[in-house]
Parts: sequence; C-alpha cells; structure tokens
Amino acid sequence: MSEQRSGENAATAVAGGRPPMVRVEDVHQSYGTGAAAVHALRGVSFEIPHGELVALKGRSGSGKTTLLNLVGGLDTPDRGRITIDGTDLAGLGETGLLELRRDRIGFVFQGFGLP
Ligand SMILES: Nc1ncnc2c1ncn2[C@@H]1O[C@H](COP(=O)(O)OP(=O)(O)OP(=O)(O)O)[C@@H](O)[C@H]1O
Ligand SMILES: [Mg+2]
Repeated sequence: MSEQRSGENAATAVAGGRPPMVRVEDVHQSYGTGAAAVHALRGVSFEIPHGELVALKGRSGSGKTTLLNLVGGLDTPDRGRITIDGTDLAGLGETGLLELRRDRIGFVFQGFGLP
C-alpha cells in the first residue's frame, strides 16, 4: 500500500532531522546613511527545510534581490544571522564564501550579467 504525503511532510522526511537548508534570523540591511538611508530589510526571519522548493515574491523594491544577495553569500547583512545547512555565513570569510558560492549556490542574476 502506498502512502501519499503532503508537501510539508515530504519535505520534513527529506530533511531527516538536518538543520534547515536556509535559516535567516532577524536580518537587517540598509543602503546609504543618515537621512538618505534606505532600509531594504528590517528584521527578516524564515527557514527553508531541505527538499522544499520556495518562491519569494513581493512588489518592486520590497527587498527580494537584497535578501537573495545575502542568502547567496554575495553580500553580508548589517545585522542578523544567515545559516546554510547549519553553517553560519558570518564565520566563513572570503575563501569560505567563495567555496559556498562555487559548490552550493546557483544564482541567476536579475540583469543576467551577460554581455
Ligand atoms: N545599491 C543600492 N543602493 C541604494 N539603494 C538600493 C540599492 N539596491 C537596492 N536599493 C534599494 O533597496 C530597496 C530594495 O531593493 P531590491 O532591489 O532588493 O528590491 P526588489 O524586491 O529586488 O525589487 P525588484 O522587484 O524591482 O527587483 C529599494 O528601495 C531599492 O531602491
Ligand atoms: Mg530584484
């Protein structure tokens, strides 16, 4: 007899007690300083377990690219913590981040970055 799992249960089974693939904790990110500062992210927190497919949506300027640049290790947050499969990005340093981007993260840039 086969068992049909809901999406959430299937993701939990795939995760198998591992730390989440992505964990974002109270992340803040601003551009510029003083009166001209733009607070792109103000305390963002969420988790993505292994095996889940997640889409991030929001109006233009809501901070999607800012957030993905942080999760992808392309930028570092002003405040808060990001862990990928249990590894805190803040502890990686340039070489560790480079290896993460090389081995674990696929990134399609909004502007494609193609000539
Ligand atoms: N390099 C930057 N310098 C100054 N402000 C920036 C910079 N990058 C983004 N911002 C500002 O930060 C906010 C979030 O921008 P972000 O690009 O993350 O939004 P987005 O959700 O990806 O928007 P879109 O759907 O248009 O791609 C916006 O107010 C934007 O103007
Ligand atoms: Mg964007």
